[in-house]
Amino acid sequence: MPYRISNFEEYKSEYQQSVSDPEGFWAEKAENFEWRKKWDKVLDWNFTGPDIKWFSGAKLNITENCLDRHLITKGDQTAIIWEPNNTEENSISLSYKELYEKVCKFSNVLINNGVKKGDRVCIYLPMVPEAAIAMLACARIGAIHSVIFAGFSAASLSDRILDTDAQIVITSDGGFRGNKKINIKEIVDQALDKCPEVKTCIVLKRTGDEVKMISSRDKWWHLEELSAGKEHLSEEMEAEDPLFILYTSGSTGKPKGVVHTTAGYMVYSHYSFLNVFQYNKNDVYWCTADVGWITGHSYLLYGPLLEGATTLMFEGIPTYPNAGRFWEIIDKHQVNIFYTAPTAIRSLMAMGDEWPAKYKLDSLRVLGSVGEPINEEAWHWYSDKIGKNNCPLVDTWWQTETGGILISPLAGITPTIPSFATLPLPGIQPLIVDSEGKEIMGNNVEGNLCMKFPWPGIIRTTYGDHERCRQNYFATYPNLYFTGDGCKRDENGNYRILGRVDDVMNISGHRIGTAEVESAINEHKFVVESAVVGFPHSIKGQGIYAYVICDFEFEDADKVRNEIISEVVKIIGPIAKPDKIQFVKGLPKTRSGKIMRRILRKIAEGEVSNLGDISTLLDPGVVEDIKNGALV
Ligand code: PRX
Repeated sequence: MPYRISNFEEYKSEYQQSVSDPEGFWAEKAENFEWRKKWDKVLDWNFTGPDIKWFSGAKLNITENCLDRHLITKGDQTAIIWEPNNTEENSISLSYKELYEKVCKFSNVLINNGVKKGDRVCIYLPMVPEAAIAMLACARIGAIHSVIFAGFSAASLSDRILDTDAQIVITSDGGFRGNKKINIKEIVDQALDKCPEVKTCIVLKRTGDEVKMISSRDKWWHLEELSAGKEHLSEEMEAEDPLFILYTSGSTGKPKGVVHTTAGYMVYSHYSFLNVFQYNKNDVYWCTADVGWITGHSYLLYGPLLEGATTLMFEGIPTYPNAGRFWEIIDKHQVNIFYTAPTAIRSLMAMGDEWPAKYKLDSLRVLGSVGEPINEEAWHWYSDKIGKNNCPLVDTWWQTETGGILISPLAGITPTIPSFATLPLPGIQPLIVDSEGKEIMGNNVEGNLCMKFPWPGIIRTTYGDHERCRQNYFATYPNLYFTGDGCKRDENGNYRILGRVDDVMNISGHRIGTAEVESAINEHKFVVESAVVGFPHSIKGQGIYAYVICDFEFEDADKVRNEIISEVVKIIGPIAKPDKIQFVKGLPKTRSGKIMRRILRKIAEGEVSNLGDISTLLDPGVVEDIKNGALV
């Protein structure tokens, strides 16, 4: 059977095989990799634990598959093209051989600094090649990387460092982002004040600005390299050894550390990359996601490198120095496959058609979308103005927890439908359930999206708290993985994702829990209580609407609003800034004290005339007050 699917008939027969004999199916796919020792058993699983093991008994190192095995055939081929934020700076190309050498050297830097197999290493870096090098070096020595998006605040960073018990952090002096310079080291210093266990901080020189270095703890990356050897034989890992931890928001409490393990993640990230994007030899592939998110892990780094592809990494933002930057980069590097988020598409669409019209964009062959539902208008604009109606557009649905794409067209193979993720990849068995967990059979139906069978890239646990993993994903509906998303299945079995059905918002493709934002707002000295909901936003997909009760009379509401926003930025980061803050006297609560968010969501959406049944509220009068002061 083919590893790379080449037509729709093949997709259908691969899909059938993957369902009738999943173990045989994945064992055959796994033959495409280098193993130090092959597996004893393809799959052991139950969703009650959950306890999921893929390729038990196998031994391998993922970086041998990303790097070493390409050296003979593709040593001189470009692995990473790096495009800097500032157009005056030159882009960089690293061949597979150069990347391999840099990863080996940095592996030795980590070892020289006492990092061992199983240790957690926090990476807080801008989008520079060293972020990829640091991740791969961790994987090479068997350390578990935990990359934290460099837009997160010091408080978010320290929470994540403490949660993983990491003793080492890799960062930079600063970073460039549009016309701003970010003082990354300062943020790390603040975070590390709360993390006494961190004994080492390796600092990359990026901006060259002067930064405070604490001699007992902080070491320059380039100086550490001077004393590091250049050879490194990768560590032998078990199939289920953790590869990385990546934090993501849920509907309750603090973000949780999603754990992915070595062999299954490797097989799934590569299989899905190759089949969804239909990567051809010598293609230049560009995924715009930051390495701090799962898309950056699976489809900027691991998936493409496992294929021996050329992957482009961009340090900057789509609108700097102007709204043509993405399109300019596509022409400059002759990008063939372009993968980005609907929020970027919508913001560039709003800048006008004249921007893409200035560029040829004729190297493009495949377009991708990820992170949030793509509305039909943005889908068509992307397809027409960027793809010139000549590129299949794959709307890829997946999650941090799924490790890779689960539902998506295969480029040029699966018929696309605007704003539909269409069909499951081979190996993926979705089902739709009602709120009681009963399967809704047939087509033309709508409900909650679950998975009934594991795939190799599925989450294994949440770091340090397995029960939380069970509760969050496997307890809502017995024996099913619950995605937290609602969806529709059309008359032909195509899936359309409708968005989250839990208290998780999706702001510009970033997942943020309402509870996290509320607890940050509540830190403001005037605030007694708050309730946060998402509302439709033309660029961000969803915006954040906060209803806030204060115990203090004040004159200048905007001043207090700005203070609350600063509090949220300080505690979480700029991505969680509320767009609207409405001061209210009370919140709609049931007699048992539960906030009825349904009502708040409707008001935030401007649907004040259709609030449904409010008779179960403790004080229905508060709804009238809120409606009168609504900011819509
Ligand atoms: O609601 C879905 C939405 O993003 C959530 C996952 O967020 P995260 O773990 O941060 O991963 C984002 C990148 C994979 C999902 O539960 N989502 C992701 N992709 C799509 C999407 N919603 C609709 N269509 C998509 N293509």
